[in-house]
Amino acid sequence: FHVDIDASEADKGTYPFYMLKEIDEQAIVIRHLLDRYLDENGVHIGGAILDEIKAADRLYIIAAGTSYHAGLAGARMFEQWAGIPTEVHISSEFAYEQPLLSAKPFFIFLTQSGETADSREVLQNINEQGYHSLTLTNVEKSTLWREATYALPLLAGPEIAVASTKAYVAQVALEAIIAYAVAGDRVDFNLHKDLSEIAVDIQAIVDDKATLEKAAADFLGDAKNAFYIGRGVDSSVSLEAALKLKEISYVQAEGFAAGELKHGTLALIEEGTPVFAIISQSKTAGLVRGNVSETTARGSKTYTIVTKSLAKADDDYILPDVNELLSPLLTVVPTQLLAYYASLQRGLNVDRPRNLAKSVTVQ
Ligand code: G6P
Repeated sequence: FHVDIDASEADKGTYPFYMLKEIDEQAIVIRHLLDRYLDENGVHIGGAILDEIKAADRLYIIAAGTSYHAGLAGARMFEQWAGIPTEVHISSEFAYEQPLLSAKPFFIFLTQSGETADSREVLQNINEQGYHSLTLTNVEKSTLWREATYALPLLAGPEIAVASTKAYVAQVALEAIIAYAVAGDRVDFNLHKDLSEIAVDIQAIVDDKATLEKAAADFLGDAKNAFYIGRGVDSSVSLEAALKLKEISYVQAEGFAAGELKHGTLALIEEGTPVFAIISQSKTAGLVRGNVSETTARGSKTYTIVTKSLAKADDDYILPDVNELLSPLLTVVPTQLLAYYASLQRGLNVDRPRNLAKSVTVQ
């Protein structure tokens, strides 16, 4: 399998690693998506796609790795904005143990490369069963692009670093646009305005890298393990944050729903254990604070990433307020930079971690 990359577009320029360039491009990626799919006058996505989603009684989002985490964020929008029950499945599991499907299922495949073998296997299976699907991918004409009923490009530009960053942001933003289009009058916020502001906010995060470079040194410098906690969609971002750290710094990391701490992981917290708490959901902010106290009481070094209206004076990293289901677009960015610097500070090859491939074409 071979990907056509426009060499000029994929040029690293003055960046030491592609990953840093790709993190920096995330604001532009959102603007590209807005230019293509959502302007002040409304959504520009083929009516047939929206009609099929509206007619479905359940959505099945299928993906692997970082794309799976983007699915976990998107599912909440399809449920809470559009009112459609939505399940998210790991493709390598769904392929060999297909759950009972609803009467009118519709499938959404998320894949940066469009070539992941596990996801292809699922698409092949559901095609044989006659179900319809939409692929959101960064690679037009890829296998999952060609074999799905519909496909939309993520417009993130070539992603070269093995650890996915801008494709995640593109997937979450495009899921938001589709869910918003399907929701119609069920929602009354202005997504174009929100995403435009998020692009500005992402730019501000990446313009102040020194803060996160220092946090990586202070909190992850000599770490052997690390934990990421949050509730609701923050738990999904915790999974992605932990994956990013594992992939490129080789620090053993776990992300999970903060409420689960007391059911096991708390036993691993000792003096100096780094714990990153993500707090952007008003309904559960107080509960996560309680979970944070449980870890600090046992000596953890806790770093909090919090949205402004939920922040307290001693929080570490404060992000602007945002529609709560769109918060992954912001909260993920500091965690990407933490992972990047943890890898860099260990002298590792950030873009090409050992044992991993950008596109996994075997099952
Ligand atoms: C590989 C990559 C990950 C990616 C996953 C799914 O493991 O290293 O970064 O998230 O595949 O890839 P896809 O192209 O389907 O999004």
